[in-house]
This record gives sequence, structure tokens and C-alpha cells, in this order.
Amino acid sequence: MKPPFTFRRILYSFPIILYPFLVNLTEFLAKTEPNLQKVILAFAESAKQIDSEIRTHSTDKAGTKNEFGEEQLALDVAADKIIFAELEKSGVVATAASEEQSEEKALNPDGEFSTACDPLDGSSLVDVNLAVGTIFGIWKSKKLIGETGRGLVAAGYAVYGPRTTFIIAIDSAPAEFTLQENGEWKLTIEKMEIGEGKMFSPGNLRACAENKEYLALLDFWAENGYQLRYSGGMVPDIHQILVKGKGIFSYPGSESCPAKLRLVYECAPLAYLVEHAGGASSDLEKSILDQEIQSLEQRTVVALGSQEEVERFEKFLTV
Ligand code: AHG
Ligand code: MN
Ligand code: MN
Repeated sequence: MKPPFTFRRILYSFPIILYPFLVNLTEFLAKTEPNLQKVILAFAESAKQIDSEIRTHSTDKAGTKNEFGEEQLALDVAADKIIFAELEKSGVVATAASEEQSEEKALNPDGEFSTACDPLDGSSLVDVNLAVGTIFGIWKSKKLIGETGRGLVAAGYAVYGPRTTFIIAIDSAPAEFTLQENGEWKLTIEKMEIGEGKMFSPGNLRACAENKEYLALLDFWAENGYQLRYSGGMVPDIHQILVKGKGIFSYPGSESCPAKLRLVYECAPLAYLVEHAGGASSDLEKSILDQEIQSLEQRTVVALGSQEEVERFEKFLTV
């Protein structure tokens, strides 16, 4: 079933002269509880600053490694600093965690939210000028350990590509905002919905050498006329599924090429967005949203996409 496209793409249905009258992010959030608004606006403001850093900052290594032993770029560190400064300024965040830091950071003891983020997902794609993103999740709790993705009160991401966009779901279908020259975020897609369609975004293909079930699924996609859409960045790959309203992103593992994507920073927030768009998520046993956060370093097998495609992923890979 194809998702309904009527009224989804607001920006394109308006003549350019009417853009100033489109809803902006602050207006869109008017009915959201005020403190949650502050957290969301802190991430939106960070995205603007990160966008500007990406345009001009060097793509050199920072000379440091993150908790996962991955080399940090100067840009990873800059994006992380921007987000922590904005979250602190919001005054309502108790605890914040980031892929670039080893521990949760206590921000405001009276804060009622905890947040997790990947400040710059796909940062190694910046030097080749491919799209990258920022991912975030917001829980109404003082800490993250023991929570699951079901406890998220909102999640979102920003995509830094030819356009800069900010996507947010607050217990409803995700909406897309596009950054305008005057710094405003204008609503460009009101409601993103995922239906069925033949598109695949296959992460970790190296695993196929050992993971013959994944190889069989790859054959299925190839033999059945699926469209390959893989950018190397999880954010634009998921954004494609949400905008086109179809498809699947997968990142399973094998013995020598284990699943590397992280539950709290990447998978849980994106699963929240995909499930709120009518899609599904899986770690091969259950929805990603039902996986308990036991440590901030937790990695997971992940499939995100339409209901039928995620079911097919489970069927092929469960032996
Ligand atoms: P990060 O840059 O935050 O470390 O993560 C990048 C992720 C994700 O965006 C992408 O889907 C995946 O890494 C690609 O993995 P491979 O490099 O293993 O192909
Ligand atoms: Mn990442
Ligand atoms: Mn990152």
C-alpha cells in the first residue's frame, strides 16, 4: 500500500511567495509541554550551528578517540560541544549522553529529561561531501540506564545535505522542517508515513561472507527488482525511507563483522521515528523499542523500515 501523498509535502505545493506563511517549528510546538519544547528547540538550535560548522570546519582528526575506540574528527568534538552548551542552556535536562563522551553528564539536578545523541553520525562522509546527520532521543527521566525506546517522549534528527532539515516526532508521525535563509525552520512535510515498496539500504554487506542468511536476503532483493539506495550514512538512509514512504535499512552482523550501531544514540531514536510513521523495527527478536538500555555502549543488530520488509528480514535471518 502506498502512503497518501496529498497534503504531505507542504512546501512544494506552495508558490514561493507564500513560504513566509508556512508554519515554523516554534508555532508547530505550541501545544507541546513547555519544558519539552525547550529540549527540542535546543537540538534544533544546535543543528543550525552544526550545519554552519560542517560548511567550513576542517575535516581533520582531533587526535582523540571516543568511548568506542573510534578516532574523533575535530568536527565530532565541535558538534558535541555545541549540543551540550545548548542542552545546558535549556535548563530542563537532568542528564545527557553522547556518542562522543564516555559517561552520562549531569546537567541540571532539577531537570526532568534525559537525552542521548549522536552529534555527527557519518562524520567520515564529510570530506567526500555526502550527507550526514545528528540523531537524538528525549526521555522523561533522570537517567538512561534501565529505560527502553518505549519510554522516549520525542526523538528526531537533522540532515545536513543540499538542504538542512530537522525531523521530529512527539508521540505522532514525524514532521520535517527545512532551514530557511533567515534561520527559521519551516514545516515542509507535515506527516511522514511508511507503506510498502521495493527499496533496500543494506548496511554491513561485509558480513555476508560469513552470514549466509544475509547473503540470501541480498539475493532476494536483487532478484526481485528492488531499488538499491545506500548512502553510507544511517541518517540520510532512514530519511529516504521516511520521505519516499517505503523500504528497509539493515545492519546485521557476523562473527568477524559484528553489528556496530548503538542502541541509545542511533537505533532507539530512529526506531521511534520509523514506528511512529507506521513502520517497524527489529533486533531479530523484538522491536528495537523493547530493548532495555543496560549500558551506553550497547550495540545491536537493527532493521528499520516497512512492516513487510522488516518481517522479511526476520524471516530470512532467524535460523
Ligand atoms: P558514526 O559516524 O557516528 O560512527 O556512524 C556511522 C554509521 C552509520 O551512519 C552508517 O550507516 C554506518 O556507520 C556505516 O557503517 P560501515 O562504515 O560499517 O559501512
Ligand atoms: Mn553514528
Ligand atoms: Mn557520530
